[in-house]
Amino acid sequence: MSAGQRPGDHAQVPSQAQVPSHVAVIMDGNGRWAQLRGFPRQEGHRRGLEALRRTVKNAADLGIEFLTLYSFSTENWRRPATEVSFLMGLLRRFVEKDLAELDASNVRVRIIGGRSDLAPDLRMLVEHAEAMTRDNTGMTLVIAFNYGSRDEITRVARQLAADAAAGRIAPDAIDEAAISARLDTAEMPDPQLVIRTSGETRISNFLLWQAAYAEFVFTPVLWPDFDRAALEEALAEYRRRERRFGGLSEPTDRSVGAA
Ligand code: FPP
Repeated sequence: MSAGQRPGDHAQVPSQAQVPSHVAVIMDGNGRWAQLRGFPRQEGHRRGLEALRRTVKNAADLGIEFLTLYSFSTENWRRPATEVSFLMGLLRRFVEKDLAELDASNVRVRIIGGRSDLAPDLRMLVEHAEAMTRDNTGMTLVIAFNYGSRDEITRVARQLAADAAAGRIAPDAIDEAAISARLDTAEMPDPQLVIRTSGETRISNFLLWQAAYAEFVFTPVLWPDFDRAALEEALAEYRRRERRFGGLSEPTDRSVGAA
């Protein structure tokens, strides 16, 4: 490591050729993983947290700059109260136990999703994690928690309407950039690759705006079994698709007039 460099700095990663800068994952299949083994669903989530930790390390290692993980959706509130509170507890535990190590690994943590429904202590924990790691220069780990795209876009619409009503923005000035800049993902690149585990092939209200031009890879692997080989296989599938664009277009150029 040369002077001034920190662990995980992107300059240190030998070759990032065709590694998407932003990978987003719908972590699905915890319940089925547990059911198949006769375990309670909670065990599936616990093992899901281990897969999450593993994936953070592997992604940083492979030179991914932004990793977004869908950990709790706005629809997940409909699950039994015991499961909801278990998932809240897992986030709490993750932040409490892993923050120091993430910080030491130069990972920047961001949480996207509605904050107002979270318990005050959890909100404070999340704010603390973001503040503590704000200046880190390695991978950005984005935890989507109490996240739903429709909710996110609705919050932006409400804010823009209020700004317009107060004369702070002219309706004509509301363009795509004005919306992107107010999303929870402001200042992050759009994901180029979205992975969903467990064989389901839905987007489930995840990054609807941001993933407009993303590649989707669906793998039958259940989330608790997601390992380095599964991540590398998804990246290989992404590269195969990129090659088919054969010099006509760079992955990041597809936002304008492309399909
Ligand atoms: C989907 O599996 C997974 C979730 C709803 C939760 C994802 C949570 C984790 C991976 C670990 C928790 C980590 C944090 C930081 C909170 P499912 O329960 O829908 O599985 P199923 O479709 O097989 O029932």
